[in-house]
Amino acid sequence: MTTATTGAATPTGVVGTAHTRVEGRDKVTGAARYAGEIPFAGLAHGWLVLSTVARGRILSVGTGPVLSMPGVLAVLHHGNAPRLTTDYVGMLGVPPDPTAAVFQDDRVPHAGWPVALVVAETPEQAREAAEALVVTYEREPHDIVFSDARPDTYPADGHLPALTEKGDMEAELAASAHVVDEEYTTPEEHHAMMEPHAATARWDGGRLDVVDSNQGTTWVADELVRMFSLDASAVRVRSEHVGGGFGSKRLRAHQVSAVMAATLLRRPVRVVLTRRQMFSLSGYRSPTTQRIRLGADPDGRLRALEHRSLNQTSTVWEFVEPSTGVARVLYDADAHRTENRVVRLDVPSPTWMRAPGEAPGSFAMEAALDELAEKCGLDPIELRLRNEPERGPVSGLEFAGRNLAACFREGARRFGWADRDPRPGVRREGRWLLGTGTAAASFPVGALPSTAAVTAEPDGTFTVRIAAADIGTGARTALTLVAADALRVPIVRVRVRIGDSDFGPAGIAGGSMGTRSWAWAVTAAAGELRERLAAGGTVPPEGITVRSDTTAALGALARKERHSYGAQFAEAAVDVTTGEVRVRRMLGVFAAGRIVNPLTARNQLVGGMTWGISMALHEEAVRDGASGGLYGGDLAGYHVASHADVPAIEADWVDDQDPDDPVGIKGIGEVGIVGAAAAVANAVWHATGVRHRCLPIRPDRVL
Ligand code: MOS
Repeated sequence: MTTATTGAATPTGVVGTAHTRVEGRDKVTGAARYAGEIPFAGLAHGWLVLSTVARGRILSVGTGPVLSMPGVLAVLHHGNAPRLTTDYVGMLGVPPDPTAAVFQDDRVPHAGWPVALVVAETPEQAREAAEALVVTYEREPHDIVFSDARPDTYPADGHLPALTEKGDMEAELAASAHVVDEEYTTPEEHHAMMEPHAATARWDGGRLDVVDSNQGTTWVADELVRMFSLDASAVRVRSEHVGGGFGSKRLRAHQVSAVMAATLLRRPVRVVLTRRQMFSLSGYRSPTTQRIRLGADPDGRLRALEHRSLNQTSTVWEFVEPSTGVARVLYDADAHRTENRVVRLDVPSPTWMRAPGEAPGSFAMEAALDELAEKCGLDPIELRLRNEPERGPVSGLEFAGRNLAACFREGARRFGWADRDPRPGVRREGRWLLGTGTAAASFPVGALPSTAAVTAEPDGTFTVRIAAADIGTGARTALTLVAADALRVPIVRVRVRIGDSDFGPAGIAGGSMGTRSWAWAVTAAAGELRERLAAGGTVPPEGITVRSDTTAALGALARKERHSYGAQFAEAAVDVTTGEVRVRRMLGVFAAGRIVNPLTARNQLVGGMTWGISMALHEEAVRDGASGGLYGGDLAGYHVASHADVPAIEADWVDDQDPDDPVGIKGIGEVGIVGAAAAVANAVWHATGVRHRCLPIRPDRVL
């Protein structure tokens, strides 16, 4: 495979050239330690006990018999746990999820709510005692019915406004030659990253030291400071290697309960979530019900676009899955209306999960566009090209580069789209019906204020310190390349230290903002250091350190409609006797800013597209009305695409860069999954002539 890499790289620069992960050897030899395996002297182990009822009150926690079991040191619960402060708004502008603020009252708002922590000398003793702990409840009736027909749904803002609206929707629909009016649904989906959540907390010389697996040490430290009412300087959070995050690795019950136990016992305490516990404690993607109405002129020009989405949240925390994001950016119409609604149910709190909003939203919108193309008798790519907006459809802002049309043209060329017979259900190969589909992708570009320190060492090497998080994406390597270019030295002279809140505040690995946020700070500090060194003088034994802070630069950034884009293509084969759907090939072509490291960038994009296949065909968490919990809430019961389900996937990009970013970066973390499920669903329609508006496209739904 060839990759086109471009951008403003100096001809000798390393940004834009492929490099394996700088910590790759440590990872494959086991030298890289993860949060749950770093040894501490005198370590005790906590095991969380989760509620077995879906709603009610805790009547009693039977600590007596358990405290006399071998190795048991303590049982923490709402009757004896320290009180926490929870009435704050954290660094990302949201209040804490009460699921993390454990053991504060006797209320149980959902099945799998943490009710106690059993601490013992070994994990086995803690587990055995946790399983023996008798907790009695006063049950209350629970309600987990997710439906758009409920009277108690309401519009909610989240990080985007709940509602955007212009024009006369009904008039434009009435005047349209072609109308699509359909409902699309996506199920509850779970992150299930490879490394489960794990934290070790201990007091060390008057400071709280937490070794954790998270997407931002600044973020977790900040929340612990507020929750436990500590001095900011008294908390250190480290997170050196992280086996996946996807939006789920933030402050949760395991860090908080570990800190409580370490404080009580005055020794290090580790709490690790089991895979099963993750299915109720670590967040998930809410199910969505989405209604889309499109109206177009005979030539395909959109007159009307309405996208309404409903998601569920818990009774204790409001989370909005902002599914209408793609509609606000990809397409304009004379009448344009988008609305995000939520409903509060007796379920765990959902959270960010890769491309929150855009992943389910693009399934609905891009499938609806495909239906409109069919009605207009237009090629689906041509329909999209005819509706390319000049400015942000809702914001009215100028685009900071778009290049979606370039993605479609390059993708169509490489996928062989020109030869496609538009008729559905006419290609047969033995028992397989074959089809191809396409979809657009977009994801917002952002950056969070960050600080970095770059030190010129006396031996001629450079040390970069930044509280960045590498959650498996290759961020550490990307920052090494960025620093080397900014310093104009070979990468072997640069070491990058990350994952330590003592390095000063930095943004999170989330919202596709990590590498952009951190590279900005690293570039600023390294550039200034290079100038200082160029002025001459010798480097003293303690080195020369330059610090940067991007807060002011980001505050001064021009307001533009700033997104990464992509065009997804899929070929599907459908066995109409068994209902089996196989994806045969997939291609994604993206416009995602300057690509720092083509090797890890391609990994990231292919990973997102793989997840799109999984979303289209496999993933579905099913809640049991009687218990309020999940059927098979673990990796035995929750299907994800396995190796055999994933064909050769090609991901590439067109020339693109953010004009206002010092390195030209936009973001690639999430755009890879956006539109991927729609491309597969559209291919299944092209194969069979049947529209699937309800994910996943299971065999029983195909038949
Ligand atoms: Mo991503 S869902 O913002 O970690």
